[in-house]
Amino acid sequence: MTVLTVAPVPPDEIFALTRAYNNDDYPQKVNLSAGVYRTNDGEPWPLPVVQEAEKQLREDNNIFRHEYTAIEGDIAFLPLARDLMFGFDSQASSEKDAATKARIGTVQTVAGTGANHLGAIFLARHMKPRTVWLSNPSWANHLTIWELAGVPRKTYPYYSAATRSFDFRGMMSTLESEAEEGDVVLLHACAHNPTGLDPSKEQWKSIIDLCERKSLFPFFDSAYQGFASGSADEDAWAVRYVLNEKPQMEMCVAQSFSKNFGLYGQRVGAFHYVLNDGAQDLRDTVVVNLCHLIRGEYSMGPTAGCSIVKKVLTSPELTAQWYDDLKTMSSRIISMRQALYDELVRLGTPGTWKHIIEQNGMFSYTGLTPLQVYALKDKYHIYLLKSGRASISGLSPKNVTYVARAIDKVVRNFN
Ligand SMILES: Cc1ncc(COP(=O)(O)O)c(C=O)c1O
Repeated sequence: MTVLTVAPVPPDEIFALTRAYNNDDYPQKVNLSAGVYRTNDGEPWPLPVVQEAEKQLREDNNIFRHEYTAIEGDIAFLPLARDLMFGFDSQASSEKDAATKARIGTVQTVAGTGANHLGAIFLARHMKPRTVWLSNPSWANHLTIWELAGVPRKTYPYYSAATRSFDFRGMMSTLESEAEEGDVVLLHACAHNPTGLDPSKEQWKSIIDLCERKSLFPFFDSAYQGFASGSADEDAWAVRYVLNEKPQMEMCVAQSFSKNFGLYGQRVGAFHYVLNDGAQDLRDTVVVNLCHLIRGEYSMGPTAGCSIVKKVLTSPELTAQWYDDLKTMSSRIISMRQALYDELVRLGTPGTWKHIIEQNGMFSYTGLTPLQVYALKDKYHIYLLKSGRASISGLSPKNVTYVARAIDKVVRNFN
């Protein structure tokens, strides 16, 4: 007899699929489930810039490298993460920049998941939102994170299955008619997971205007900065628009370095709370309260991956090399989208497939049905999420024809 009252919880779909894939000994198996970068040979890719930074760190042999950091994290890392996210020049700072920086409280987190979680529990305690609005669909973990924070969740439409495109009108009209003052609106800064569909700049402006007019609180999740378009500036456009054009708005940003530095298991991230202009005095109190939560949960973020990012972002040469690595990753993904699309068109696969090349970032929301997804796994050993989300980086010149043929077969046979 146990004193616990525990009921089974469904396993995480992505990790369960990866396990099934690892246990599958079929030679042509393909993993399109996990959001991790793979090379043309289907292998992980420790970024060349990361390997160079690791080499330099080994040479530095800093005897403090295993010490505790401050509770808010590695103090030298924090402004680097902030400047990358918000577009400040780390080398030269103007007076205007200094006033804007003073609006931002930053702490290190356990990657993007930890930043989302910290933000959720911080807002739950100190803002007490009645509702958090998540896109439908969204990254599945958003649901868990906000459930654990005890904030009631609602969804706004995001995806139109009929047109396989972003449902801007649905999003706007739901938030307009149903969201209430003080509600949190969770927004994917770029490369929306799972749909790969992002608002245009004009649409972003309307979304932000709506948040401002209705006093809704924007919570940006930035997990793919630089990874989506190859440009760290372009992928931060929406966040920087709010910071610079809406100085009277507050917001927060969960920043991940997992994808853009290929540091998945190192757990590097940051959480930024942006106060409105005039509220700079509150920044230290915000940070102290974030530290209170961090201390009670895990005391401080891990240091190894953060030292790598710090090494890269403090060296102009390594930063330039990082930009090249980002381009390598984003262009390979774009070329794989094109290859899959071309092959489906060549095969005359029923349906339209243009969305595959129009979507952005790591994922494609293929439009395949759960039955077709099941058939891909069962008959062809190709693994993707039940929703039809495919991680494009699992495709390579070696398997894309196999995958396209398999999709062609299941689309024809399982309608
Ligand atoms: C939308 C989104 N947010 C956050 C994350 C968090 O990633 P991590 O915790 O690995 O940094 C991910 C990872 O897949 C994601 O897709």
